[in-house]
Amino acid sequence: MSKELPIGLFDSGVGGLTVLQELRKVMPNEDYIYLGDTANLPYGTKTEETIYRYAHQATSILIKRGVKCVLIACNTATAVALAKLQTSFPSIPIFGVIEPSVHEVCKKTKTHHIAVLATPATINNKAYEKSILKKLPTARVENISCPLFVSLVEEALFQGPIVDGVIHRYLDHAFSSQITKDSPDSIILGCTHFPLLKNTIQNIVGQGITIINSAEASANHLKKDLHAKNKLYLNTKKIGSTHFIVTDDPQKFLNTGSLFLKDPIDKKNIELLHT
Ligand code: DGL
Repeated sequence: MSKELPIGLFDSGVGGLTVLQELRKVMPNEDYIYLGDTANLPYGTKTEETIYRYAHQATSILIKRGVKCVLIACNTATAVALAKLQTSFPSIPIFGVIEPSVHEVCKKTKTHHIAVLATPATINNKAYEKSILKKLPTARVENISCPLFVSLVEEALFQGPIVDGVIHRYLDHAFSSQITKDSPDSIILGCTHFPLLKNTIQNIVGQGITIINSAEASANHLKKDLHAKNKLYLNTKKIGSTHFIVTDDPQKFLNTGSLFLKDPIDKKNIELLHT
C-alpha cells in the first residue's frame, strides 16, 4: 500500500470535521477524503442495525476510492460498528475515535471518576464504559446522554442562556456535588459535535475538571499508528488536499462545515453522491 494514498474518514455529517481539523493540524502533508453521510444524519438517535448499515456503506465507498486506511470520525458509528467493520474489511486498517480518548482519560484522571458525554446510541452501547473499565477496573463512569447538544451545535449555538440551560440540565446531577468532592474529575466529549461546546462546558463545570476532546486524541493516535504500521507510511508531500463527498445538500454542508473545520471549504471540492 502506497503512502501517497489518501486517508479516508467518515461521519454522519459535519461533526467529523472537528476530527479532520485536528488531523490536518498534526498531518498537514496527507491527502484526505471526507465522507459526510448527510442524507442519513443524525446517527446518534437511530438503532444499531441502521447505524451499522450506514457505516458499512460509507466504509465501502471510501475503500472503493482507494484510501490507505479508514478513520471512523464519528463516536456513534465507532461504538456500534468498529469491530464488525474490521472483520468485514480485513484488508484495510480501520480506526475509531473511542480508544484514543479512553487512553488519554485513563492517563489523566486522578480520582478514577469519569463522565462520558455522548449521543443516546453511544451511551446505550456502553462502548466507552467497557473500554474505560478494561484499562482502569477501579473507574466509576457516569454515562450522560446529551442528544440536544447535537442540535445546538448544528444551529451554531455554542454559548448563551439556551446552551447554559441545556448544559445545566444534563450535567448538574453529576457535577453539583463538587463541594463534597464527589464529582467526576474528567469529562470525555464522546461526540464529534461536542468540541464546539468545550469552552462553555468548561466554564460551567469549572476549570479544575479535565475535558478530553476525542477529535484531538484520535488525530494524535492515528499519526502514531501510521508511523508504527509497516505498510502505512506518513505522506511526505508538501501540502495535502481534502476532497469532500456528501450524500445530501452540499450547500448546507458548505455553510455549517466551515464552522466545524474552522477553515473555509471550497465548493468545488464537494462532490454530491447519491447512495
Ligand atoms: N457524529 C455523531 C457522533 O460523534 C454525532 C451526530 C449524529 O448523531 O450523527 O456521535
